[in-house]
Formats: sequence, C-alpha cells, structure tokens
Amino acid sequence: MPYYVTTPIYYVNSTPHIGHAYTTIAADILARHYRQRGEDVFFLTGVDEHASKVARVAAEQGLDPKAYADRIVGAWRELPRRLGATNDFFIRTTDDGHKAFVQDFLQRIYDAGDIYQDVYAGLYCVGCEAFKTEAELVEGKCPLHDVEPEWIEERNWFFRLSAYQDRLLALYDERPDFVLPAFRFNEARSFIAGGLQDFSISRAGQPWGVPIPWDPDQVAYVWADALVNYLSALTYARPGEDLRPRFWPAVRHLLGKDILRFHCVYWPAMLLAAGYEVPRQLFVHGYLLLDDRKISKSLGNVVDPLDLIDVYGADAVRFWAARAVSFGHDGSVSIDSLHERYERELANELGNLLSRTTAMVARYLDGVLPARPRGDSPVRALLATLASDVADRLDVYDLTGALERIWDVVRGLNRYVEERAPWKLASDEERRRELEETLYDLVDGLGAVAVALAAYLPETSPRILAALGADPAELGWERVAYGLTPARAGIAAAAPLYPRIDAPTAAA
Ligand code: MSP
Repeated sequence: MPYYVTTPIYYVNSTPHIGHAYTTIAADILARHYRQRGEDVFFLTGVDEHASKVARVAAEQGLDPKAYADRIVGAWRELPRRLGATNDFFIRTTDDGHKAFVQDFLQRIYDAGDIYQDVYAGLYCVGCEAFKTEAELVEGKCPLHDVEPEWIEERNWFFRLSAYQDRLLALYDERPDFVLPAFRFNEARSFIAGGLQDFSISRAGQPWGVPIPWDPDQVAYVWADALVNYLSALTYARPGEDLRPRFWPAVRHLLGKDILRFHCVYWPAMLLAAGYEVPRQLFVHGYLLLDDRKISKSLGNVVDPLDLIDVYGADAVRFWAARAVSFGHDGSVSIDSLHERYERELANELGNLLSRTTAMVARYLDGVLPARPRGDSPVRALLATLASDVADRLDVYDLTGALERIWDVVRGLNRYVEERAPWKLASDEERRRELEETLYDLVDGLGAVAVALAAYLPETSPRILAALGADPAELGWERVAYGLTPARAGIAAAAPLYPRIDAPTAAA
C-alpha cells in the first residue's frame, strides 16, 4: 500500500530550531515504520522560500532573495540528514519543477472560474504570512508574533473559498478521521461551519515569488505557492516519472497546530477547485515549549538541534522528541530531560540490557547460544501482541504510545534478568538447560525489541542486532515476534551503546 508522508516546508528566514526538527523526526519515524511493514513509502520535506519575511532578511543582508536562500538552504538540508531522516526528496519552492506546477495548478482553478479580482485592504502579519482580522489581534498586535501587522491595500486575485463551505463540511462529515486528533478535527470543522471568506492568492508589488500565469505583474501568495509543494514534488522528484498515480491521494500531512487552517481548510478547497482529490489524512501536532516558554528568537531560547545531536547523537534526540511529550499535545521539554532520558532509559535500561545479555552469553556459554524457544516462556508472553500493538498505535500517529509500549518490553526484559538471575543458574551445572533458555529468551527478546525500535533509533537498532549476532539489515516487521532466533555462535560482550556524557547542559 502506498504511504506518502510530508512535513510542512519550513521558512528559510532563519536556521532550524528543535520545533522544526520535531516534525521531521515524527515523519521519519512513520516513514521508517511503514517501510518495515513493507509498504510503498514516500517521505517529503523541504523549504518554503517565497515568503515576504525571506525577502526581508535577504535585503537586510544585502542579498538578492535567491542568493540568500541558496546560502541558507544548506543548513536546512543538513537538518534531515543529521537527524537520520530518510526523506525521499527535499523540495525547494524555487525549483523550476515546482514553479511550473504552481502556475499550472493556479491556472486550473482560474479556468474553473473560482478566481476573481478584487481590492483587498487589511492588516497583514509578516510573521504569519497572513491577513489578520481585528478580532484576532490582542492590543493591536498579532499574539503569535507580538508585532503590529502592516496595512496592505492591493488589487489582488481572490480564491472563492466561500463557495467550498458545503463541500468541505460534507467531506468532514463523511470522513471523521480526515483530521486527527479528534479535537483538531472539531476545531477545523467549526472554523468551516462558522463561514468562510475568500482569500487573496496573489500579491502585487513584490517581485519575489511565482508569477501568476494570467497576470505576470503579480506573484502567487506564499501559501498558494507553498501548499502545492505536496503535489508538485511528485511530478519531478524522479525525473521522467510521475509519482502522482502512485502516491496521490495516499498522503498524510503532518503539521503543527499553528498552520491548521491553511492545511485543513484552504488546501482541500484548493485541491477540489483544481480537480484533485483531497489528502487521505492530516495529523496536527502540538507545540514544544522549552522550559515552559515558547521557542523564539526574541526570547533567546532557540536551541539548534544540530548542537544536541553533536552531544547526544541523533537517536537520543529522536527518542526524546517522541517520548518527552505525548505526540499531538503541547508540552514542555528541557535539555535536562534529554540528558536524564539518555542516562536512565537509553544507557541504563536499554544499553545495560544489551551489555549484560551479551556478556553473560560470552561468559557462561562461551558465546554459543543454542536455540531454546519455549511455549511457556514469559518473554513469549511479553512479545505476544507487541507487533500489532505498536502498529495499531502508529496507524493513528500515536508515536509516544507506541514507544511506551515497546519500552514496556524493555522494562519487562530487565525484570526477567533480575528474576531469573542467570549468574546463579550458571553456578549450578544441573541448571544448564534453564540457563540456556533464559539467555535465549534475552537474546531473542532484545532482538525483537531492536527491530521494533528501529524506526525510533535507526543507528542503535542495527548495532544491537549485530551485537546479538543477528543480521542488522533485516528489519522486517514480522521479526517483532518471539522465538525466531536460530542457534548462534560468536556472541561477544558488546561495547556500551550509550557512553556517559558528563554535563547535563553541555549542549545548551
Ligand atoms: N512555511 C510554512 C509551512 C508551509 S507548509 C505548506 C511554515 N513554516 S515554519 O518554518 O514556520 O514551520 C512551521 C512548522 O514547524 C510547524 O507547523 C511545526 O511543524 C514546526 N514547528 C515550529 N516550531 C515548533 C514548535 N515549537 N513545536 C513543534 N513544532 C513546531 O509555517
């Protein structure tokens, strides 16, 4: 089955922070997981370049916007690369293939009669790249950016969003899982039910953007350009191949709650107008706060995710992102909590389990593990519904719950070591069979857990498998089961998975 997952394309007006890393990590966990299940996956991320705020930053630096974007895009390509993300393409909205597609897309809406000219006068927040109503302002300022919006009065091209209210409501009523979590579905649906206003899809008097095909003096409004990336990428990511028949509409958009309306309301309407099917599903996640504060440049608490990766490694950052806050909800994180999870969960609960298991096989069995699966093994019971439980949770984007379910097994295996005390069994020749069974269970259980964790910990999982003498490249989901380990020789005590890191705030 096709599974197409996207992140928002990020504005290049500054470099990435952990909020951006957050969505990219989430999308990568899903992409890797569905590949393990043998699905046909396409994972897209990239950057949004034609924003007024990008043109402004470029001007401040005395650069042409494209020259500026070419310079900063390197940092944005680095983000997925260093996170270990397996995106199949990285889109830039300045790509020729994207620009041509946007023109074609807007032309289709124009030809369908859903675009007209009008004068718009209103308050525009450059931070949001959106017009604001008086009701949305707090003391005359945009509450998200804490700045007074600018008065803009232009003759623009408008999209007849109001004409799509009924069709959108019908869509929402037909597909109760169109937007998840449910409270976000309700938020989007009530916004639609409250009445929709047409919106401007072009900007006059600013040259930075995709020219409107029937009126080249105007450029596409940044959102009318950016949203289209999800479709345009499929037309040119693989030269000579149109991926649309394969992956559209099997798309799952991940996004933060800040851009819900654009994705859950404007985008489906634009697709309907242009004659495309609407996305399969949208998942709206919450916002990460750092030490209870919004992550923002002006507060000076922007953490560069690459700095965290330098200190803790990509896997620890991915683990923390998935675990520290329940995916879908807002939550506060801290660098201390990253350090704490690294030590307690990764180094102790997972790392030590591998060290102990391999050391005991090396020491008590000379590294030779006989095949000893048992019908009544407690590890069989521990693993019994692991594969289906994790898959079911990830089917509803519950990245946090799925990881907690896997961690249950990690804790269960640690308890099993304590209960069975293999060191005692080893001192009694008559209990040799029990010793072999116990160590078999540990190697087998830990191997299954490593496969289950591979989407979260893509560097660590293959290392665990290799240390257990298993094939580190075999990550098929069917391996998340008990008793698949054959007899093995040559198991040696493994090096620590997660070495000690001293300063808790080394990265801060
Ligand atoms: N360019 C638009 C999106 C266009 S998509 C067609 C944009 N870019 S952005 O750079 O501002 O990135 C917004 C996205 O980054 C959010 O929707 C979210 O996915 C992620 N996050 C940015 N800060 C975040 C947090 N503090 N916490 C969680 N995610 C956040 O909007």
